[in-house]
Amino acid sequence: MTTLKPASLKVAIGPTGRAMAEAMPAELVESLHQHLTMERSASAQYFGFNIWFAERELRGFSKFFKKESENEQVHASEFADYLIARGQSVNLEELAAPKQDWSSIEDIFIAAFQMESDVTTSLHQLYAIAERHSDFRSTVFLDPVIQGQTNSEDEFAYLLGKVKFANNQPSALLIIDSELNV
Ligand SMILES: [Fe+2]
Repeated sequence: MTTLKPASLKVAIGPTGRAMAEAMPAELVESLHQHLTMERSASAQYFGFNIWFAERELRGFSKFFKKESENEQVHASEFADYLIARGQSVNLEELAAPKQDWSSIEDIFIAAFQMESDVTTSLHQLYAIAERHSDFRSTVFLDPVIQGQTNSEDEFAYLLGKVKFANNQPSALLIIDSELNV
């Protein structure tokens, strides 16, 4: 009978003890964690918007932000899964409480658009770091994420434009609300 011997071949191991094909530069790991926090914060803030609109009988807007909040959570999960796939551990940082005292719908859409644009900037920074370190697994991971984010910016710019055009008139805002209530 042959007895099994310990493996004689070696494989690189990440901080979680998982096999790791290519070590990740510390700068990239840190930036991916920061980005993950940003996606979770956006999810929390959109959940706050969802509640703000629900409290004011604007169910279409409320529904829109509920879905957006869920989308941001999906994005956060994608980053967590990617870090795990690369043998890294995932640190979940504390989140600030979402701002809830808004005085106008336009302000909410301006804040949302700015948040989307900050997320895009963060993705571009991640891409630049990955390229600088020739970490091509990360650039490939980021490509479709950046495309999706550009589409999101477009959607938020469109809705901000419509809300601006409504110029705070209830009848116009109710039409947008109905359009979003699908
Ligand atoms: Fe996102």
